[in-house]
Amino acid sequence: MKDAAPQTIYLKDYTPPAYLVDHVDLRFVLNETKTRVFSKLHMRPNPDAASEAFFLHGEDITLIAAKIDGTAIDPQIDATGLHHTVPNAPFIFEAEVEINPSANTALEGLYMSGGMYCTQCEAQGFRKITYYPDRPDVMATFTVRIESDLPVLLSNGNPVEAGDGWAEWHDPWPKPAYLFALVAGELVNHPDHFTTMAGKEVALNIWVRPGDEGKCAFGMQALKQSMKWDEDVYGRAYDLAVFNIVAVDDFNMGAMENKGLNIFNSAAVLASPETATDANFERIEAIIAHEYFHNWTGNRITCRDWFQLCLKEGLTVFRDQQFTGDMRGAAVKRIDDAIVLRAHQFREDAGPLAHPVRPASFVEINNFYTVTVYEKGAEIIGMLRRLVGPENYDKALDLYFSRHDGDAATIEDWLQVFEDATGRDLTQFGKWYAQAGTPHLSVSESFEDGTYILHLSQQTPPTPGQPEKEPLVLPIAVGLLDQRGTEIVPTTLLEMTEASQSFTFDDLQDRPVLSILRDFSAPVILKHTQSDATRAFLLSHDTDPFNRWDAGRSLAQDVLVRMTRDQATPDQSFLDGLAAVLRDDSLDPAFRAVVLSFPSEDDTATALFDAGVTPDPTAIHQAHEALTLYLAQHVQDISPRIYADMTVTGPYRPDAADAGRRSLGNRMLSLMSKLDGGKQAQLQFAQADNMTQSQAALTALLKIGKGADELAAFETAWHADRLVMDKWFGLQVGCAAPEQAAGTARKLTAHPAFDLKNPNRFRAVFGSLKANAAGFHDPTGASYALLADWLIKLDALNPQTAARISAAFDAWKRYDANRQTKMRTALQRIADTPGLSRDTTEMVTRILG
Ligand code: ARG
Ligand code: ZN
Repeated sequence: MKDAAPQTIYLKDYTPPAYLVDHVDLRFVLNETKTRVFSKLHMRPNPDAASEAFFLHGEDITLIAAKIDGTAIDPQIDATGLHHTVPNAPFIFEAEVEINPSANTALEGLYMSGGMYCTQCEAQGFRKITYYPDRPDVMATFTVRIESDLPVLLSNGNPVEAGDGWAEWHDPWPKPAYLFALVAGELVNHPDHFTTMAGKEVALNIWVRPGDEGKCAFGMQALKQSMKWDEDVYGRAYDLAVFNIVAVDDFNMGAMENKGLNIFNSAAVLASPETATDANFERIEAIIAHEYFHNWTGNRITCRDWFQLCLKEGLTVFRDQQFTGDMRGAAVKRIDDAIVLRAHQFREDAGPLAHPVRPASFVEINNFYTVTVYEKGAEIIGMLRRLVGPENYDKALDLYFSRHDGDAATIEDWLQVFEDATGRDLTQFGKWYAQAGTPHLSVSESFEDGTYILHLSQQTPPTPGQPEKEPLVLPIAVGLLDQRGTEIVPTTLLEMTEASQSFTFDDLQDRPVLSILRDFSAPVILKHTQSDATRAFLLSHDTDPFNRWDAGRSLAQDVLVRMTRDQATPDQSFLDGLAAVLRDDSLDPAFRAVVLSFPSEDDTATALFDAGVTPDPTAIHQAHEALTLYLAQHVQDISPRIYADMTVTGPYRPDAADAGRRSLGNRMLSLMSKLDGGKQAQLQFAQADNMTQSQAALTALLKIGKGADELAAFETAWHADRLVMDKWFGLQVGCAAPEQAAGTARKLTAHPAFDLKNPNRFRAVFGSLKANAAGFHDPTGASYALLADWLIKLDALNPQTAARISAAFDAWKRYDANRQTKMRTALQRIADTPGLSRDTTEMVTRILG
């Protein structure tokens, strides 16, 4: 790779662009190896600029010719771009460049995927298409002409005109280059339309490769629901005559919100009952919504610079979470989000990759599309909404849209809007954006003469580069119950601002039972002091569904920690509590299913580490297996009945009600298979008419060391379906016994359908290897070495995805000396690879610390 020496970029060094672009004309003459890009940039000096130096970004492109105001120039070119002198007045810069889409395996810029041309420009891919000020605070209108024999030619905005072998598009909304997109291919569409609240007709299309037409209907429905929801809840209507979505097989991330032309990883949009699971359907609905919502939060209002990424991502994740809550039930959605946040974001915050939601510096911005920026960024919005209240939140958002429409904005702008709309001082709250690490919240209680006092203290452990932490504003939702489970103080929001603070509740008859951090009102780690008995009480009586689940979760976590440490047996009362929830037919099946599922093995490793114990992934795995078996035995009298009750009849529907029933039924199936040798799972696999049921049955079989015949049948049935085959690859690695995981992954890399260039396939194998905690941490180090080998190979082709997956090693310092040494050796071997990309270099350097 010809990457320039890695350079750290700092937020504090931001300066406005020297030149602005008012309008861009682009002409693409497409060719798989020699595409010509003709650009005409209508530019002018920026009156607010500090410097006059003229520079256009450009990487991996060949300049054929350039002109300023019609006169040929011979600019100075280096590895990062183009320099020249320009007039001190408006001028036109023209360039002709050549690029090679078929050589582009990094999937950034213009590349080929399955015979089609497509683009990915966020964050800095446009500079691989032509010379341009590739920074989000330079916004221009675009006109794009595409010349190609391919039948479908798409770009941003509205279609202008098309003829034989060409098409022209115009995007009237000024946008940064990262929102540019182009697609050309032999595609078929799934068309529909939507009428906005202003009465405007919008043509909607999902474009796919021939053969995938049958997998578009659900995505289209989700798109229309998203458009309606954004009108109803945020008052935001769509602003072009067409909205196109294209499904692409080779894609580094989930999807991309290019103006009027969203490009999706096919896994994030294509679904049919036979090929996608309930979880896939829910994820697709959320991603369609997410990208659509970006049209206002990201596109109409974009980011001044990449340090402000959370401005669009945190807010848009928060909006898609609200949407899913409204579509599918807020309580289970909040639980799902908390599980993800604790498992991934808290882990990131506690390790060498910890960074603020708005980072202060980066080497490669692609390494900062993280759970911290996205999910913790969304939590900050949620806290803000709780603190100011829903009406004030709506007022502030209206002000945000009216004040900043068309702007490239900052977090300061965002907070200022809330201060102006509500009169609240958000100086201290703003520290959430700058301070990394997860606050620990310690709780103690006292009760005397009818007065109950809650003593809270917060403390955030140091993170890399931030040894000292300050107290944050914590919205803490609490309720108090009496000993019979009646709510005596309904949910009340306490605002904690100090390191230590007490809150008093008067006139109580008896000592109340505390229900704290209801609905997970702040992303903190609760250092609970509640006894097993109190938590069991909350599991059966709390009126807040999140806390009801969380009480059971925290009991299960303690049980798993005890079982790992001293091969203890689980308490009967804990198993009885779970069985009581299972038997309670008045509870939503989806809720029962989440209560009946345990923390992950990685969660247990974290819990042990936090308790000062070095986690042994092998012992953790055995404890989890043992607890599952105890639970299976404990509920064996009712599990077949519940399994049968949860049968869904009629045609498959991916809605929350049916998905919840399948989820509980399949939890029963996994427990039953521990005792029946897989008989029921084999039956379910044979009879299944949808992927949710076949995948659950296959998983249950693989987890008990069976399922070889089913695996073979699955491959025969689905070998031609790329997305289903990703499941086939992933399940084998994810469900392998610990000592077999590395061998299974290695064997699959030799399978003819393994494709290093396809990120979904690579993730199916190696993402699943990381997720198989005991297999990844097999004490021989076989998985570490295998992953290092393949990351080195992948890095030469696709640095972005290699860098992301290298984060699998981030928790290496938690483990014993043997595992630490082996992980460090693997990391060092990656780091020492000649020509390693800037992306992966930054990651392994930070991980090694
Ligand atoms: N903005 C996209 C989204 O969140 C993510 C694209 C990021 N891509 C990248 N290569 N960093 O929807
Ligand atoms: Zn996004």
